[in-house]
Amino acid sequence: MAPAAVPRHVAVIMDGNGRWAKARGKPVVMGHRAGAEAVRRCVKAALSTGIRFLTLYAFSSENWKRNTGEVADLTSLLRFYLRHKVAELHEQNVRLEFIGDLTRFDDGLRAEIDRARTLTARNGRMTLILALSYGARQDMVMAARRLAEAAMRGEIDPARMTEEEFGDLLQTSAFPDPDLIVRTSGEQRLSNFLLWESAYTELAFVDVLWPDFDESHFAALIADYAGRERRFGKRPDPDGAL
Ligand code: IPE
Ligand code: IPE
Ligand code: MG
Repeated sequence: MAPAAVPRHVAVIMDGNGRWAKARGKPVVMGHRAGAEAVRRCVKAALSTGIRFLTLYAFSSENWKRNTGEVADLTSLLRFYLRHKVAELHEQNVRLEFIGDLTRFDDGLRAEIDRARTLTARNGRMTLILALSYGARQDMVMAARRLAEAAMRGEIDPARMTEEEFGDLLQTSAFPDPDLIVRTSGEQRLSNFLLWESAYTELAFVDVLWPDFDESHFAALIADYAGRERRFGKRPDPDGAL
């Protein structure tokens, strides 16, 4: 495969843990545990493919509306993985970053997040971005608020605002826009994920529940991406090159 056809940034909506557990007559938390194993497979596959940025949607702003037991299970699973698995990511030269409203998590989880970020800050092979308590609309509202405040202080002229300046205020500003967004479980929606950043992102919906996701699914997605034509609104060149 030509190197240019490998997406630089892949983002994944990891969906289907609940249905996976239900199909086995197990409690939902077992689905989330199995989902955490799928994360490891996905990271491994991304590393071997040469992906530079991998964003994983692990917990949405709206997921706080689930019952307190499930929220507690999810946060303790996150804490466990951050505490025990970050060393392995560090050895693999992976940098960990986080997007979302982390202030909603307890001190213990926030401390693990800070530790993971600090430990891996200088790693350069791949950036793994975990979206936790993340909602794209909330991020955009925060950006709009900061802009309005700056305008009221007379620091910026609203009439001269550019897309770049708005994008710079989002939590994702340090990362390129995703080239490919994947959602598992057969659902075909974005559920408040990277709405600004996905303006020209290729979308892929796969009919596999997240805990069953493995390297072969990842490879198939990358192969499919390689055959797509991205136009960004332009007329494709008749000779094939954009
Ligand atoms: C995705 O699995 C994980 C999170 C949203 C945290 P779900 O828990 O949404 O699984 P389904 O959609 O109920 O099957
Ligand atoms: C999206 O899945 C969020 C994550 C995968 C973390 P949901 O299961 O929460 O989305 P909806 O409610 O089906 O749209
Ligand atoms: Mg779901």
